[in-house]
Amino acid sequence: MNLDALTYAGSMENLRDLADESRHLFVKGDICDAELVRKLLIEHKIDTVVHFAAETHVDRSILGPAPFIQTNVTGTFTLLEAARQVWGKNRSGKRFHHVSTDEVFGSLSLQDDAFTESTPYDPHSPYSASKAASDHLVRSYFHTYDLPVTITNCSNNYGPYQFPEKLIPLTILNALRGRSLPVYGDGMQIRDWLYVQDHCEAVRLVIENGRLGETYNVGGNNQSHNIGLVRKICQVLDELHPASRSYLSLITHVPDRPGHDRRYAMDIKKIHAELGWSPKHDLESGLRETIRWYLDNPEWVKNFLAQNEYDEWLDLNYSDRGAQ
Ligand code: TYD
Repeated sequence: MNLDALTYAGSMENLRDLADESRHLFVKGDICDAELVRKLLIEHKIDTVVHFAAETHVDRSILGPAPFIQTNVTGTFTLLEAARQVWGKNRSGKRFHHVSTDEVFGSLSLQDDAFTESTPYDPHSPYSASKAASDHLVRSYFHTYDLPVTITNCSNNYGPYQFPEKLIPLTILNALRGRSLPVYGDGMQIRDWLYVQDHCEAVRLVIENGRLGETYNVGGNNQSHNIGLVRKICQVLDELHPASRSYLSLITHVPDRPGHDRRYAMDIKKIHAELGWSPKHDLESGLRETIRWYLDNPEWVKNFLAQNEYDEWLDLNYSDRGAQ
């Protein structure tokens, strides 16, 4: 069962690749709706909750933090409470898995070691602060109520179907529309890019075999600075979908994001040692698959651009930065 409020970044079109429709039930609803969540857990005898639902975009959290507190903090609390009440003492075979982010750990300098599962929390944006709060709540339910929980903290995801507010799909779609490619500040911030399928495989392994109460870092082993990544996207587009001049000419440095974290990097030894997971995609192969997907799915892109108030978002976030 897939419970989704279908807010701005959600779309039924994103479910069209499901291998077996008969094994999937879609419910449109909000994780903050306690009655609904309780009812679904009881009626469908749900034994495993995988909590992916979140507001995730840092720039949106800067311009309007309230939905982040609502969905990420209150929503997580509502799901935890429902699981606690409905599962009661009958916890055998039950699992509450919470999907979180590396951003809860704050920012690294170039010399720092990568984040481990025991790095102290130090969130810097309303987004990462709301995720940190939700992680703490999940852990508290393990210690206080013995709720059978696991947590994964992942690095930056990318791949097909990603809402193009995030750097990689934003760059691809802006390039295809001949718009400028906005790089915040000097573009030397570093992220660790994780292909979405690798992430999903890690989550599945943790649900099946992860130890209760434990956290597992999930990263792509693919660190790149933003300017190098944007250039790489341009080069792949120049090769796969050449325009009259190179897409590189569209790159524009724009004013930085407030509180912008300099570097994230994940130490993924624990999940590798305990569960045998490591990412299968390097940035080169993952980027090519992703760019191909956006090129091969013009219908999705067209429908998407017509809905979701996407251009309004571009105006709101970028017009003051001088990018268009
Ligand atoms: P983003 O995809 O928003 O993920 P996060 O902030 O969660 O890491 O951004 C990835 C990096 O790219 C981040 O350092 C901010 C930068 N960035 C730009 O330079 N320009 C943009 O237009 C966007 C959206 C992000």
